[in-house]
Amino acid sequence: MAKFDFSKRDSFGSKFGVIAAAAGSAVGLGNIWRFPYIAGENGGGAFILVYLLFILAIGIPVMLSEFTIGRSAQRNVFGSFKKLAPRTHWYLIGVLGVVAAFIILSFYSTVASWTMEYIYKAAADAFSGKSSDQLTSMFQGFKGGTFRPIMWQVVFMFLTAWIVVSGVKRGIEKYARILMPVLLLLIIILDVRAVTLAGAQEGLEFLFKPDFSKLNTNSILQALGQAFFSLSIGMGTLVTYGSYINKRENLTNTAISVSAADTIIAILAGVAIFPAVFAFGIEPNAGPDLIFRTLPNIFQQIPGGYFFALLFFILLGVAALTSSISVLEVVVAYFTEELGILRKPATILAAATITALGVLSTMSWGVLKDVSLFNQNIFDLLDFTASSILLPIGGLFIVIFVGWYLGKDYTRKELSSEGLFKVKLINVFILIVKFLAPLAIALVFLNGIGLLKF
Ligand code: PFF
Repeated sequence: MAKFDFSKRDSFGSKFGVIAAAAGSAVGLGNIWRFPYIAGENGGGAFILVYLLFILAIGIPVMLSEFTIGRSAQRNVFGSFKKLAPRTHWYLIGVLGVVAAFIILSFYSTVASWTMEYIYKAAADAFSGKSSDQLTSMFQGFKGGTFRPIMWQVVFMFLTAWIVVSGVKRGIEKYARILMPVLLLLIIILDVRAVTLAGAQEGLEFLFKPDFSKLNTNSILQALGQAFFSLSIGMGTLVTYGSYINKRENLTNTAISVSAADTIIAILAGVAIFPAVFAFGIEPNAGPDLIFRTLPNIFQQIPGGYFFALLFFILLGVAALTSSISVLEVVVAYFTEELGILRKPATILAAATITALGVLSTMSWGVLKDVSLFNQNIFDLLDFTASSILLPIGGLFIVIFVGWYLGKDYTRKELSSEGLFKVKLINVFILIVKFLAPLAIALVFLNGIGLLKF
């Protein structure tokens, strides 16, 4: 096998390109599909407050830590730890990241497959004139099938692989730059319609009126898992993207902009969905089906709904794509740089194995629906293992690595781009990554999985 030529490593081309690509990774199904349904299952407002707290106190520091590691090492996630901490076992975080990437993309592509079907349905005008109940059975009928969900999943994985083969600048960056702004605009249009529905009040109260009695210990772990999932942190995706950021970019500003964009889009998605959930009599804890049952109802009530529905699902598909490429890139960068496989075969190998696992996840709503472990089907189990276990553990070790192994002086040098920028809050940042974030993650995690009881 050929050795990878590190002098030919690809990189992002512009400041906006970096933000668009990282925001493209962060903003995806996690914001529009997962955030509303998880918030719905955990009682709404109080959950969201905890979520916001985790983004601020843990999410942003983990993201900045990942950028720091990646940019200073200029390697894939495994290679970064090997390079920065030679002759130690820190590379195991890289192994964990690659495993998490496999798992996440396998169930992510299931939901992406649903999105692709809904692009098709929107184009075929399949929603108009249907009642809320009819829309529900339409979704469930499709999801429980075999051929169509698998077909769309394969199509989606093919598209993901196709962009990744093209590389960082000419693939990933090019698409993210144009599509992210359009998505934002479209969600705002949906918000305007949603909050003017009769009965919108109840949905807004559900979202914004915290009722702490609805939180249990598992909700807190789920809020942490959602923060990690949504920001794309804890598995080295942003170590990998960070390694393509050039040395003159301000990492702190990038991390803050990306986290802000991600959080705003999640909240806006909640505002689009919950008023409609209550207005159309859907249960807020309907689970992974929530947006697919809710949104078609709103589209029917908007002038030009046909057009908006089509545009929305296309953009949701694109948002999924700009995220899925970042997950696949973790594996491909590892295969090319560490195993010396060329980019094209590496991409095909990674995409094919992930699709194979992904088919099991997709079928867990159909022929494999009776296969379960710990009361969860394959899909939920993959999601839970990645989001609530692997990402928090990865995040824990990433902040410990930056706080304790790299240390303050090294980190300041990287964050300041060798003195180009002033790094104002370095002491606060180090305090967080050394003590606060590891402690918080460990407590939430141990408590959530039941090893520690408060
Ligand atoms: N952050 C993406 C989303 O919210 O849809 C999902 C994701 C991408 C998770 C990349 C993890 C990751 F590494």
